[in-house]
Amino acid sequence: MEEVAPTQRRYQTGPSLAQPPTALLEVEACEDIRVKTGIREFDRILGGGIVPGSVILVGGEPGIGKSTLLLQASNRLSSQQDTTVLYVSGEESLRQTKLRAERLGPTSRKLLIVSEANLEQIMAHIKDLSPQLVVIDSIQIVYKPDLESAPGSVSQLRESAGELTYLAKTTGIPIVLVGHVTKEGSIAGPRVLEHMVDTVLYFEGEKYQNYRVLRAVKNRFGATNEIGVFEMTEAGLLEVANPSQIFLAERSVGNPGSMVVPILEGTRPILVEVQALVSPANFGVPQRRAMGIDYNRVSLLLAVLEKRVGAAMGKYDVFVNIAGGIKVEEPATDLGLCIACASSFKEIPARPGDVAVGEVGLGGEVRAVAHAKARIAEAKRLGFSRCIIGKSNLKNLAADAEIEIVACATVDEALDAALSS
Ligand code: TYD
Ligand code: MG
Repeated sequence: MEEVAPTQRRYQTGPSLAQPPTALLEVEACEDIRVKTGIREFDRILGGGIVPGSVILVGGEPGIGKSTLLLQASNRLSSQQDTTVLYVSGEESLRQTKLRAERLGPTSRKLLIVSEANLEQIMAHIKDLSPQLVVIDSIQIVYKPDLESAPGSVSQLRESAGELTYLAKTTGIPIVLVGHVTKEGSIAGPRVLEHMVDTVLYFEGEKYQNYRVLRAVKNRFGATNEIGVFEMTEAGLLEVANPSQIFLAERSVGNPGSMVVPILEGTRPILVEVQALVSPANFGVPQRRAMGIDYNRVSLLLAVLEKRVGAAMGKYDVFVNIAGGIKVEEPATDLGLCIACASSFKEIPARPGDVAVGEVGLGGEVRAVAHAKARIAEAKRLGFSRCIIGKSNLKNLAADAEIEIVACATVDEALDAALSS
């Protein structure tokens, strides 16, 4: 169990309790005073910019690009709005940070940096400077001297984050906390802080690929699951304004085992390629692997294919991948996944102009998805000519001259439509 922290007062994370209750009607909304960093993909996932007094946790594996993005955002913000930004770099020396900043372009005068890990010192700097934004890189290195536990322990992490949150709420200064996702098994990672902060963003992507996806897994001030897509270059992270294009860029049209699916990330539709490789199993138990998609979901859909469509998947190894290193969670990917698997199984490529979207039930029925219009519009924008979708989605869709809608009640019907030449 966790040790009890020896604090004088119980720490508060909310605003001061000393105020009398106010009529909700009279509380001023502060929607228009969001601070825009100027990095559009970053502002977008935050819900349109940084809300004053908010605390944002940015998590991700070491080396994925957290420091790079936040240094870029801090620099952009301080140079554009001519306001002070305080970057607390507990992990790298000032010189290291300077070297990094030099690769990222001209540095603003108003970007102040301090190498500090002592929470009391950090808080003193914040109060002293009243900057427009504070970045703590990383929260795991920050320690409160009067706690007995070691820096990096769960109680240090919670206490430090708690005090910084309280400071943000009382002063209105937004604070970004950087947190390294630690190896599985070690507990003092950013997850422990998720409930305390307003917004939680995680970096996803393969370290060895150039694309990075920043995803809002929690946001009190915007849509969750909103994503921003970046490309890591020599000059830092570049925004990718048209993610569908990059996720489909290397698609091998005409090969069996591939299907394009318009998924919805937050409020934005994005086209991704679902790939499947189904090949006869050499050893007793067939292998199943899933990358970028939930393994259990894949197993379930394979069972549906076996039972409802009669595809003897049980004797085959199945590998499923979402191209481009993105992770998908939506059940709306089901239908595309079934088509990709069946396409590889039958060695029949899907038509190049097709996309498919729908949730698949255990009975083999294709269910409706939310925001079908937006998904179809994105497919149309990227030049796709046909969309295979659940029948029950049809009632909300108007006929469209540019894209043909194929409505299917079952997976069986959908496979017939997708894989007949
Ligand atoms: P970094 O932001 O230090 O990761 P984190 O803070 O999440 O640990 O990113 C480090 C990686 O990014 C490192 O491998 C070098 C690479 N990088 C570039 O490719 N271009 C750049 O301009 C910068 C600054 C870093
Ligand atoms: Mg870093």
